[in-house]
Amino acid sequence: MTSDIKTALLTGGNGNLGRLVGDQLLERGVQVIKFDIPGTEPANTHPNETIVIGDMRNSQTLAGLLQDYQPDTIYHLASLLSGSSAADHQAAWDINATGSFQLLQLSLEHKVNRFFFASTNASYGGKVEDPLPESAEQWPENIYGATKVAVERLGVFFKQTHGLDFRVLRFPLVISPFAPTTAVTAFPSHAFRAAMNGESFVFPVNAQAGMSTIFLEDVISSIIDYTSAPKQQLTNHAYNLHAYHLTTQMVIDEILKRYPDFQYSFDVNNTVQSLFDNWPNVVIDKSAREDWGWQPKYDFADSAERMFDWIAEGE
Ligand SMILES: NC(=O)c1ccc[n+]([C@@H]2O[C@H](COP(=O)([O-])OP(=O)(O)OC[C@H]3O[C@@H](n4cnc5c(N)ncnc54)[C@H](O)[C@@H]3O)[C@@H](O)[C@H]2O)c1
Repeated sequence: MTSDIKTALLTGGNGNLGRLVGDQLLERGVQVIKFDIPGTEPANTHPNETIVIGDMRNSQTLAGLLQDYQPDTIYHLASLLSGSSAADHQAAWDINATGSFQLLQLSLEHKVNRFFFASTNASYGGKVEDPLPESAEQWPENIYGATKVAVERLGVFFKQTHGLDFRVLRFPLVISPFAPTTAVTAFPSHAFRAAMNGESFVFPVNAQAGMSTIFLEDVISSIIDYTSAPKQQLTNHAYNLHAYHLTTQMVIDEILKRYPDFQYSFDVNNTVQSLFDNWPNVVIDKSAREDWGWQPKYDFADSAERMFDWIAEGE
């Protein structure tokens, strides 16, 4: 499937998604270069992978990366997430927007074949239609979403003017044993871990709050399948994905099945609650299914089972 991908650069390569996308590419014989900030270095590396430490804000570092490794494919995953972006708007713009602009420009200079960008449902804003149609306009209401829309537009501009094979997936809430604490929607994942550790958990939204959700392994396979798909099959610049609608109550019920003594309470954070109230429960992902065969493997019960196993195995 990935035979035309020989050397891949993964920005944010030591992160939640980056590590697993890297593993999939390594299994397929791809040379993998992971770029990330200091303090993220893995304990072990595969013989076909190289770890480069640096910062998206340093354009000379980025230029050196492309010069030294000449990747044919870029998986651009480095980003400040929603929480850290809200806490520091300047850093969010510098890393997520300006850093991406530099990387896109360098990709043209170095004739990179394919550029994958990880976007998000946070690129939509306000009270959106539910189910969310594929034609919905993107008017984000936070800086994180605004940087993602900026990069989506910029990449499509480079695609149309320079032929860069720019590809975008917009992810909903991701259930993951590695969920970063800096993502405001990551609390369902953290509730699982708390239950397994015998700790109580405070949900920042009410029991009815819910949104479109996807399990980590489906995210990883979507990235691999989509970036392996022949260009001529792709009718959209960007694709929305959806696996299932998840509510806080469903998380609690699934945890209680295994941990009947799980203690929990609610301390509603209005910002997070309003995200859940406004974001769609269902996202139409018809084009992804039709164009490149997107099909989630995990419903919520399967996701929960895999989460508990994964955490128990010590990840
Ligand atoms: N997991 C989700 O819920 C989700 C949902 C939608 C979109 N996304 C997007 O997917 C991508 C990967 O997300 P993730 O879940 O792996 O998050 P993550 O935080 O685990 O990974 C992001 C990586 O970027 C790195 N990074 C941050 N600042 C950097 C800088 N200045 N220079 C170089 N590297 C830097 C971080 O160290 C981290 O390893 C991100 O672009 C994110 O916006 C994730």
